[in-house]
Amino acid sequence: MNQELILQLNQTFAGKAPGEIIPAVAALFPGKIAFATSFGAEDQVITHLIAKSGANIKLFTLDTGRMFPETYETMHRTVSRYQVPIQTLFPDREEVEAMVNEKGINLFYESIENRKLCCHIRKTQPLQRALQGMEAWITGLRREQSPTRQHLEVVEWDSVNRLLKINPLCDWTEPQVWEFIHAKNIPYNKLHDQGFPSIGCQPCTRAVAKGDDIRAGRWWWENPDSKECGLHQQ
Ligand code: ADX
Ligand code: SF4
Repeated sequence: MNQELILQLNQTFAGKAPGEIIPAVAALFPGKIAFATSFGAEDQVITHLIAKSGANIKLFTLDTGRMFPETYETMHRTVSRYQVPIQTLFPDREEVEAMVNEKGINLFYESIENRKLCCHIRKTQPLQRALQGMEAWITGLRREQSPTRQHLEVVEWDSVNRLLKINPLCDWTEPQVWEFIHAKNIPYNKLHDQGFPSIGCQPCTRAVAKGDDIRAGRWWWENPDSKECGLHQQ
């Protein structure tokens, strides 16, 4: 890890808009920077900015096999609108088959250990494949989203995957995200209009009541302080 570079980049990007940060990081790591999208509201803002700036950034999504139909529909509309390739990564067939045949299709409700295993096989391992050969990856993480994200910086060291992690929207609020989406007429997941502020896999995401925590509907049966799936652990 180059702590000095991280400090310097965070100073450079302080107060800068995501639309400035994105092309700047793309230029720093030509051909070695990728953006992970789950087609959530924040990710749609970033996809829009990448497409409009023409920045040289690989876009990818991790298809766990358990996504909502509305998410696939958002993916389709996004590719049609922006005409950008979005690489899809699937989990390893043999690992999914062994897990499901041994522990059942909905194993994740039975224990945290099972839930972490499922996230590991369906998300974390494909993420590692997606990041091979990369020097930096971009995410749609925001500080406001959860207790585990409140200290987020624009540039961080991802010690699990051993590369830089760039969070261009880290200090945006939820209303800022929606203002941008509506102003630019960006396609978004229809579930957001049905009480889903945060959308992951279908069996592990449910709608929340007005005023509830943004991620209250994710793995709702678990403790809020430990609700990370392995994509974003440091
Ligand atoms: S999660 O770790 O709890 O699932 P969350 O849904 O908040 O993460 O999304 C945070 C960021 O992680 C997204 O903005 C996106 O960059 C990345 N991400 C999450 N899920 C996926 C996915 N299935 N495919 C690609 N990127 C993802
Ligand atoms: Fe499996 Fe649920 Fe994790 Fe998706 S969110 S990978 S279904 S445990």
